[in-house]
Amino acid sequence: MPDKDFEKASKRAGVLRREIEEHNQRYYQEAAPTISDQEFDKLLRELVDLEAAHPELKTPDSPTQRVGGKPLEEFAQITHRTPMQSLDNTYSEEEVGEFYRRMQKLLPGAEIPVVIEPKVDGVAVCLLYENGELQYAATRGDGTMGDDVTQNILTIRDVPRKLKGAHPPRLLEVRGEVYMTKEGFRKLNEERQEAGLPTFANPRNSAAGSLKQLDPAIVRKRPLGLVFHIFGAMEGADVETHSEALQLLKRCGLQIGEKIWKAKTGAEIIEAIRELDKVRHDFVYETDGAVVKVESFAQRERLGYTSKSPRWAMAYKYQPDRAETKLKSITIQVGRTGVLTPVAELEPVFVSGSTVARATLHNEEEVARKDIREGDTVIIEKAGEVIPAVVEVKKELRTGAEKEFKMPSKCPACGEPVFRDTEQVAVRCINASCPAQIKRRLEHFAHRGAMDIEGMGEAMVEAVVSHGFVRALDDLYDLTHDKLATIPRTGEKSIANLLAAIEASKERPLWRLLFGIGILHVGATASRALAAHFHTLDPLMAATVEDLERIPDIGEVVGASIHQYFQDRKNREMIERLRKAGLNLGEKDPRVEKKADTAISGTTWVITGTLSQPREEIAEAIRQAGGKVSGSVSKKTTYLLAGEEAGSKLEKAKELGMKVLGEQEFRAMIKGGQGS
Ligand code: IVH
Repeated sequence: MPDKDFEKASKRAGVLRREIEEHNQRYYQEAAPTISDQEFDKLLRELVDLEAAHPELKTPDSPTQRVGGKPLEEFAQITHRTPMQSLDNTYSEEEVGEFYRRMQKLLPGAEIPVVIEPKVDGVAVCLLYENGELQYAATRGDGTMGDDVTQNILTIRDVPRKLKGAHPPRLLEVRGEVYMTKEGFRKLNEERQEAGLPTFANPRNSAAGSLKQLDPAIVRKRPLGLVFHIFGAMEGADVETHSEALQLLKRCGLQIGEKIWKAKTGAEIIEAIRELDKVRHDFVYETDGAVVKVESFAQRERLGYTSKSPRWAMAYKYQPDRAETKLKSITIQVGRTGVLTPVAELEPVFVSGSTVARATLHNEEEVARKDIREGDTVIIEKAGEVIPAVVEVKKELRTGAEKEFKMPSKCPACGEPVFRDTEQVAVRCINASCPAQIKRRLEHFAHRGAMDIEGMGEAMVEAVVSHGFVRALDDLYDLTHDKLATIPRTGEKSIANLLAAIEASKERPLWRLLFGIGILHVGATASRALAAHFHTLDPLMAATVEDLERIPDIGEVVGASIHQYFQDRKNREMIERLRKAGLNLGEKDPRVEKKADTAISGTTWVITGTLSQPREEIAEAIRQAGGKVSGSVSKKTTYLLAGEEAGSKLEKAKELGMKVLGEQEFRAMIKGGQGS
């Protein structure tokens, strides 16, 4: 009979494996992890320890033996020349010391110089250059095989299609991290929120989400960067140490980490790790740790690899900023599009430089999965200095008085029943006159990025809606001095200013109005594209989904959403009232330039082969002329632009009977000549 201890360990290992697989799936496939890296590492560490104590439990397919997830199906697959391994990681300085001593034992008597680099919190990719020309870029995938994301990677400015310098290595397989800048992430989330789209949890998720886009035109707009930190293979260059290799990468025009430290003892390593911690917040990308690597390639070879990671490198991860506090209650926020979001109301607590009193709990499933209850003691983490999140519940501190959370069946703002939108895990209030939604819509309409009505901030919105003066956006233009004067603490001067600001908003260009009315999925960029295309509102309201889909920056989902919005009788009536109030529906917009229709507007292009100019520059020229550029040939492709040595894409285009243009024909077309 197996002993009790083993049986218990075996059961636990099974549970851990399933959980880890699930999180791997969420992290690698869906780019939407639901636990922090630290929580994940804890689970993995527990399994590693269990397997170490009971080697019989180890299986070849255990997540301890592999790196990540499987590649996506939509992208072509690329097999890495050598597997992309992971790094052993730790949160303890002690273990960094042990790592160094272990290497000293393996290389007795030798001095072992190491470098310490920022561990960039991004998405691992691998690029192959042959004779200085980029051949492909791939994600890590399962470590052996990943997605071909060349088109997406080429939209990143840091990535050269051709290496710099007269004599680049014959072959260079480089690896690095795609990141989203912290600043870019903040802006992107702001834009997404304005467009009524779900926001990303952190820069790494949004970088991963961006790379997964099948349309490089979308990726192009994302503020991505790529920092290189190692190569997988190199031929035709003579380098013996990591520092030399980094210098070579730099000479080739490849971006390397912001700063590196060198050390020759355990104590010096710890010192460098602490110094990096002090400066990492100033980097443009998130840095979640330090990577310690042996300098000498000869020493690396002698130290070798385990099945999962090199013995000559280790990652030290910084503790994220966390704090313990009480979750007083869970309230419900009703958004502009009616989505109900549970929010944790916290006993205020200081984390990473600011006081946190609220944290979004995203949705009902998230609350259930983490089993978060009112009255719980919870751990708050400000991951990547961004959005505070509840990462853990201290279940052992429960008294029994905690209350389980249930999503209300009625909207807390208007009392109408709510509906479950299964696809988006959202619960929605669909009452168009729900006061909470009206307030959020009005705030959005009036904010600086949209109709820019100064004085119509959160407090004034609250006042005009609760006094019953505004029930729909157009009621704003019926506000009078007498109405506003009944609102307590509103002076003559502010009334006059507000009325003047409302009057001035009637002249705003059409795109601001389109953005302001808050059509689902339509942010500032799409609004500009719509205004530039239609010039006035009437043809836009009459457009079919197909008409809309053809506009660059719109696409299928957004097109359908716009169409649906203008099909709604109530929306059309509101627009008519705005027209009567004297708003500019495009006719008097001096800022919308009339762009002459080119032969390129509305067409979709695929670019292949070698051309006289970098592909991305040509793609940009097509977009400027109103066309779209896609990464792969499909039925939607209008033209294939084929340079020299065009390969499989040209064949496929011919097979599909598609129009193929050479560079000269293309140049003629873009200069304004007529394409057939
Ligand atoms: S060296 C054998 N250096 O972190 C892998 N990796 O957790 C050698 N990473 O897989 C990788 N910054 O994707 C290295 N300066 C850096 C890094 C870095 C981030 C990533 C990389 C790696 C993962 C390990």
